[in-house]
Amino acid sequence: MKECKLIDLPKIVDHRGNLSFVESHSHIPFKIARSYWIYDVPDGGIRGGHSYRTLEEFVIALSGSFEVIVNNGDRKQEYRLNRPHYGLYIPSGIWRHIENFSTNAVCLILASDIYRRKDYVLDLDDFKNSIKYK
Ligand code: TYD
Repeated sequence: MKECKLIDLPKIVDHRGNLSFVESHSHIPFKIARSYWIYDVPDGGIRGGHSYRTLEEFVIALSGSFEVIVNNGDRKQEYRLNRPHYGLYIPSGIWRHIENFSTNAVCLILASDIYRRKDYVLDLDDFKNSIKYK
């Protein structure tokens, strides 16, 4: 079964303000092809609710906090992300959604591929069936 993983990023503490960074392969196990971010989420807003056939991603709370709920077909887990110096690695084949965004939360997602709608699995039953035959 594929597993998600919390990954700590470098944190350069400085009296002028702290700095963190992420590099492909050094910190996350894929080459970044795309970055996107979710923000201005209204109270109760939920994003995601799908899995990817091949795409891997890394999710960081750049500001504020939110919960990433992941399901690998075997187990469901919740991760609360609330600091910008770590993130959640999500391999392909994981059903995931993001909820409980705080006010002003900014969710940065680094992805291993450009946007391809065909890579999305949007139906939970299709996801469960695809897991069975892996
Ligand atoms: P979607 O991935 O469905 O958002 P979420 O999973 O958070 O609910 O994307 C919402 C819309 O944005 C959809 O019309 C496709 C578009 N989109 C892009 O054009 N490029 C991107 O990189 C992403 C992530 C979405």
